Amino acid sequence: MLQINDLHVHYGGIHAVKGVSLNIPRGSIVTLIGANGAGKSSIIRSIAGLVRDVKGSISLTRREGHPAVELIGKPAEDMVRNGIALSPEGRRILPHLTVAENLELGAWCRSDRDGIENDKERVYRLFPRLKERHWQKGGTLSGGEQQMLAVGRALMSQPDLIMLDEPSLGLAPILVKEIFDIIRRINEDGKTVLLVEQNAFAALSIADYAYILEVGSVVLQGPGKEMLHNPKVREAYLGG
Ligand SMILES: Nc1ncnc2c1ncn2[C@@H]1O[C@H](COP(=O)(O)OP(=O)(O)O)[C@@H](O)[C@H]1O
Ligand SMILES: [Mg+2]
Repeated sequence: MLQINDLHVHYGGIHAVKGVSLNIPRGSIVTLIGANGAGKSSIIRSIAGLVRDVKGSISLTRREGHPAVELIGKPAEDMVRNGIALSPEGRRILPHLTVAENLELGAWCRSDRDGIENDKERVYRLFPRLKERHWQKGGTLSGGEQQMLAVGRALMSQPDLIMLDEPSLGLAPILVKEIFDIIRRINEDGKTVLLVEQNAFAALSIADYAYILEVGSVVLQGPGKEMLHNPKVREAYLGG
């Protein structure tokens, strides 16, 4: 579905992503694992059209058998129309709007009122906690609830590919489990998932395929379960 070839990202003199190639097959969960500063967000934000100095190729095939579209150089506004949604790092929900209003914002490009209502109910089924708090201002939610809202909002644009930047960051262990269960369900619902994580254990446990990133380069890759048992991965990311 998405094929990234020889991706480079620069911020002024900083070479943050150094020739990364990734393949994200339709219907899969692909994860990018790496320490702080490895370049994970830069890659995901490049796909979303949010980074200026990007080189290489990001090629999207929306439908099987249709021609691929090059995403580099396309504005971020095209992302949603291309069937891609991003749940950004650090939640970024709108604190003064209610839960329901935040979700409706995720559907800004749609005009099918009934469809939007249906999808809101679907998000509430996925996150019953959000339904209970649908009238509450985003800023008054707990960290975990805000994270759920960010994921729910991304789902509201009916994406084919949903990109999640560190959805478990700062969450209590019980909520980490909950959010990963939900990511699995989103994938079972037919969405392709690109998951960026520092929580290597949880991410590798649900991922079909994983790329391990160090200072802007892929140093290891393989099926999630295989990476989970890889001695190098265990030593560097899973505490031995
Ligand atoms: N907007 C920016 N301006 C300058 N440097 C940046 C910017 N965003 C990220 N970087 C740098 O690029 C590198 C990769 O960052 P990032 O992609 O955020 O990594 P990760 O998400 O894996 O923590 C880091 O060295 C970071 O300091
Ligand atoms: Mg990041």
